[in-house]
Amino acid sequence: MILCRTVSELREALGGIPREERGFVPTMGALHRGHLSLVEAALARGDQAVVSIFVNPLQFGPNEDLDRYPRTEKEDLALLREAGVALVFLPSVEEMFPQGARSFVEVEGLSEELEGALRPGHFRGVATVCARLFHLFEPARGYFGWKDMQQVCLLKKMVSDLAFPLEIVPCPVVREEDGLALSSRNRFLDAEQRVAAVSLSQGLRRACFAFAQGERRRAVLETLVRDALSPSLRCQYVAVRRSEDFSDPGERVDGGRILAAALLGGVHLIDNMPLEEAPGAGIDAS
Ligand code: PAF
Repeated sequence: MILCRTVSELREALGGIPREERGFVPTMGALHRGHLSLVEAALARGDQAVVSIFVNPLQFGPNEDLDRYPRTEKEDLALLREAGVALVFLPSVEEMFPQGARSFVEVEGLSEELEGALRPGHFRGVATVCARLFHLFEPARGYFGWKDMQQVCLLKKMVSDLAFPLEIVPCPVVREEDGLALSSRNRFLDAEQRVAAVSLSQGLRRACFAFAQGERRRAVLETLVRDALSPSLRCQYVAVRRSEDFSDPGERVDGGRILAAALLGGVHLIDNMPLEEAPGAGIDAS
């Protein structure tokens, strides 16, 4: 596995990996099975997996957890080596934004609602760093988890609007055995909070079962999620959005995904599940 810390090292190393074989997995480190599933998806598609680890300051607000965000470089590199990754790019902030960032990418509309409303500037930071990484890596495909559904839809829109020559490949949410979606921030939950956290996925699953049984009223589906949350979770939003473009389906739902966010202690939890007619509800097929 090649390790690059500078842009010039990256450019040189990428010279040995044909563009059409580059399957890019951008991460902020603190890797878990969710990230590794993206690497596996790239390898299964026949790509060489190329990964970045960069805790992007542009996507954290002034009151967010940039300083506290877990950094586990040694463990991350061991996991990626074991997973069969070809190349890892691990730049410093100065390497990524040498003169400070003065140019930004903004995807209007999609950036401002739900997660965007809770975290002003977050998606501008995500879009900007991904644009830079896409330019540097020139991958054929970028692998992203459905867990960050709004991010997936926003990056698809950016790639289409700005004609980046890559395909965004969304991959299934990876869960703990009890249903909690994997997240680097789960490590901040204490034992009691960890038990309570599962109510988020339980609520979503309830809504998915109701949809599979014919419930189409959006308000009813959303209420099922809210009502399932344990008292220690403060609900931030529940919504239904279409998977293709994150559009709002209106009062009657015809599919898409149901998503929710809640605050538990200081930890921001997000999750979503596909609304499908077949029971088995909530499990990502792709
Ligand atoms: O999903 C993430 O980990 C980040 O938002 C990403 C895509 C690596 C950009 O910093």
